Amino acid sequence: MAGKITIFDTTLRDGEQSPGYSMNSAEKMHFASQLERLKVDVLEAGFPSSSKGDFESVQMIAKKVRNVEVAALARTSKEDIDAAWGAIKEAAHPRLHIFIATSDIHLQHKLRLNRDQVVARAVEAVKYAKQFTNNIEFSAEDGSRTDRDFLCRIFEAAILAGATTVNLPDTVGYAIPSEFVDLITYIKGNTPNIGKAILSVHCHNDLGLATANTLAAVNAGAQQVEVTVNGIGERAGNTSLEELVMALHTRKDYLPYFTTINTKEIYPSSHLLAMITGIPLQPNKAIVGSNAFAHEAGIHQDGVLKNETTYEIMEPATIGLKANRLVMGKHSGRHAFKERLRGFGYDLSDREIDNLFQRFKELADKRKEIVDEDLEVLIAEEILRVPDIYKLQYLNVISGTATVPTATVQLETGKRVQQDAGFGIGPIDATFNTIAKMTGTRSKLLHFSIDSLTGGTDAQGNVIVRLEEDGIQTLGKGTDPDIIVASAKAYINGLNRLEHLKQK
Ligand code: KIV
Ligand code: ZN
Repeated sequence: MAGKITIFDTTLRDGEQSPGYSMNSAEKMHFASQLERLKVDVLEAGFPSSSKGDFESVQMIAKKVRNVEVAALARTSKEDIDAAWGAIKEAAHPRLHIFIATSDIHLQHKLRLNRDQVVARAVEAVKYAKQFTNNIEFSAEDGSRTDRDFLCRIFEAAILAGATTVNLPDTVGYAIPSEFVDLITYIKGNTPNIGKAILSVHCHNDLGLATANTLAAVNAGAQQVEVTVNGIGERAGNTSLEELVMALHTRKDYLPYFTTINTKEIYPSSHLLAMITGIPLQPNKAIVGSNAFAHEAGIHQDGVLKNETTYEIMEPATIGLKANRLVMGKHSGRHAFKERLRGFGYDLSDREIDNLFQRFKELADKRKEIVDEDLEVLIAEEILRVPDIYKLQYLNVISGTATVPTATVQLETGKRVQQDAGFGIGPIDATFNTIAKMTGTRSKLLHFSIDSLTGGTDAQGNVIVRLEEDGIQTLGKGTDPDIIVASAKAYINGLNRLEHLKQK
C-alpha cells in the first residue's frame, strides 16, 4: 500500500530568510492562503523570536489559516519557545519546531557546548514546549554531518521528552543520495523509539542534490519532507516542492507514495511567489520554468504533435498550466472581472474589487487586451502593497540624442504636493535623481530590471528595483505601459517599503 508523505512547506521561513526574498506581512498572508489551496500539510510561517515583524506575521497567519498546521521555529531557549507559542497559539493546528545544532563542527565553533549539554538543552526545550502543545518537531541542525550514534541518541531523547516529529536536516547541502539512504537506515535501525515519531528530512541544495536526497530519504523510510516553492531558501535553496511532488506523482510506478497536494495549484503557487518576491524563475527550472513544457527542436515538435507522450512525461494541465488564457478588454463588465479574480483564488472585499476595477478600466483604455498577468500585477499593486508615504502624481521626461535628459516630478507626501526637476545621464537616471532629491533618500540602487509582462509592443513594462539603506534591503515593483513611468513607480514603491521597514 502506498504511504502518505507529509508535505512541510518552509517557503515563509527558510525561503523568506534568504537574501532578496523578504516579503511584507500582507504578501506573506496572501502566500499562506495560496499554500492552503495547494494543500500542504504543514506551513512553517516564520521564526517569531527573530523580529517583531516576524512575530506579527506568524500570528496573523496562525489566526487566518484554518486547514493546515501552522509551525513556528524556535531555538531551545524558553524565550524563543514562548515567542513561537505566543505567535501560533490561536492556530487551528499549531506546531512548535525546536532546533539545536548537533554536529561536532557546530558544537565546537558555534555553540561551544559538549554533547551532553546539547542533549540536555534539547530535552529541556521539548519538555518545556509540551506544556503548550503535543505537536512538537525537533530538528538536529547540521544532522547530515553529525556523528550517527549521537544523532540516534538525541532523537531518542527528544522523542522520550515528547517530540512527535524528528527532523534530519542536511543543513549545508553536503549529503550524497546513497549516503543519505545509509544514514536514514541507520537512524531507523538504531533509535529504539523511532517508531513513536514521524521521521522527517530537510535538505539544502548546495550541490544541486536536495531533491535527489529527499527522494532517496523517502525511499529509505522518511515520512515527512521539508520543501519550499520554487526551491527558494538559504544559499542555493531547499528541496523544491514542485520537483518533489511531481517526481512522486509522475513515478508512482517506482515510488509507492502519495501526497495530498493539489497539483493544479503548483504553477499558480510558483507564479505567485515569483511575482511577490520579484525574483523570476530561470527558464529551465524543472516543472515550473517557462521552458519546462516548451518544445523547440523540430524532431521534438514533430513527436509531440503526433503524441504528447513522446517527449512529455507530465501534462501541463496537471500542474495548473492553462493552455487557453482568458482575455479581457475595456468592454468587460464588473461581473466578468469579479469572476476572473475569483478564478485566481482571490477572495476580495467589494471595496477592493471596486478599486481594482477602476485600475483595470484605466489600463484597458491604454491596452486592447488584458491577460491574466496584467490582472495579477494589478492585484499585487493594489492589494499587497504597503500604504503609500510617497505617491507619484505627475512625471514628464525629456530625453533623446540631442538633449540632456530631464525629469519633472510631482510627488504627494501626505497632504503635501511637491514638484521638482533634475537631470541624469538617461531618462531613468534623471527620474530617480529627482525623486531621490525630493524624498531626501540615501538609499543605494542595488538592482534594476525591466521585463515585459506579455508579448507585443503595447505590453506593460514590469520594473523591479532593489534598494538598500542603513543595511535594510527592499524591493520595489512598478508596472505601466510606459517604461519610464513603470521605473518611477518601482522606485517610489521601494522607497515606501524602506520607510515602513525603518519604522518597524
Ligand atoms: O537547514 C536547517 O538546518 C534548518 C533547521 C532550522 C531545520 O533550516
Ligand atoms: Zn534549512
